[in-house]
Amino acid sequence: MVVLITGGAGYIGSQLIRDLSVTPGFEDRTIRVLDSMLRERYVSIMDLPREGRFEFLEGDIRNEGDLKKAFVDVDMVVDLAGITNAPLSFERKELTFDVNVNGGRKVVEHAVRADVEKYVYSSTASVYGPTKGVVDEEYSCKPISPYGESKLQGEKACLDASKLHGLDATVLRLGTVFGYSIGMRFDTVVDRFTYLACIGMPLTVWESAQNEKRPYLHVQDSVNALIYSLTKSGMKGQIFNVIGENASMNRITSVITREVPAARVIITPTPNLNQVSYELDGSKIERHGFKPNHTLEEGVKEIVDKFRVLLRRKASSDTVKAVASVPISDG
Ligand SMILES: NC(=O)c1ccc[n+]([C@@H]2O[C@H](COP(=O)([O-])OP(=O)(O)OC[C@H]3O[C@@H](n4cnc5c(N)ncnc54)[C@H](O)[C@@H]3O)[C@@H](O)[C@H]2O)c1
Repeated sequence: MVVLITGGAGYIGSQLIRDLSVTPGFEDRTIRVLDSMLRERYVSIMDLPREGRFEFLEGDIRNEGDLKKAFVDVDMVVDLAGITNAPLSFERKELTFDVNVNGGRKVVEHAVRADVEKYVYSSTASVYGPTKGVVDEEYSCKPISPYGESKLQGEKACLDASKLHGLDATVLRLGTVFGYSIGMRFDTVVDRFTYLACIGMPLTVWESAQNEKRPYLHVQDSVNALIYSLTKSGMKGQIFNVIGENASMNRITSVITREVPAARVIITPTPNLNQVSYELDGSKIERHGFKPNHTLEEGVKEIVDKFRVLLRRKASSDTVKAVASVPISDG
């Protein structure tokens, strides 16, 4: 009995593999991680819980040989592997589609062949694109980034396999994730702004984005939703939004400045092509039985606690240049 977690060394995966190893019913299962280590988060596979049965394969979801090895005796899959920075996906469109669509399809094909019991695909709120009002899973998506488009095609591969081959696949559309995990990334907005506040950098907010809302989700809630989907029935062939809160930039910066009172917020009139306001309805999965229960406040505090020693230090101008150039992603 093996649970395969592709991309298990990433931000979400590093917490998922730890929690899954101690989830009732999973203690005797092998948790096998397949990750290309593209993001070089070796720390994610260090100090794993001793009671867990872990296996790690460094490999690529686009590579048949790697997938063959990864799928031996697999009965459940969580597919988290992928190219995950939305703004950067404009520059690396080919790679984004190759990994997220071609690679994603291959993982689904192997899962069908292995006749797995459960398949969970981690999609994103970025598939929606511009919307009016609060929208649910029925909304017709028009993603604006290659990342969003590639994830929408990844979803389709899962849902088609569910219809055509009976794969018990569930798609979760996660809000932009925030909060601490051992393998965390710092290119999403809450985490990046919290980090910047901790190192004494200003938080630059586009004027137009101050009151625009977007969906967010605590990393622990993303992990809990993935485990929930692995273990519950009645989710086959369906899409679920998973949203902790639809929050504006004003709300995010106010949570950060409460935790780091010295943080400076700068409002700038410069337009940002990547800013799109959208609010998502997360009630479908709540009606099924899963409710996110970790707040923005908790996520920000966890990160601030990790950097607390640095709080009084000032950044040099070189650091300022370096950190300002990282494109912020929405998941
Ligand atoms: N973090 C968010 O805000 C967020 C929001 C919504 C959805 N998601 C989705 O959740 C999943 C996990 O996100 P994350 O934040 O943990 O991302 P991440 O970038 O931290 O993790 C992705 C992992 O995939 C691995 N990977 C990349 N290409 C690979 C390949 N070809 N073969 C095997 N492994 C490969 C990377 O090394 C990395 O460890 C992604 O599919 C992402 O689209 C994330």
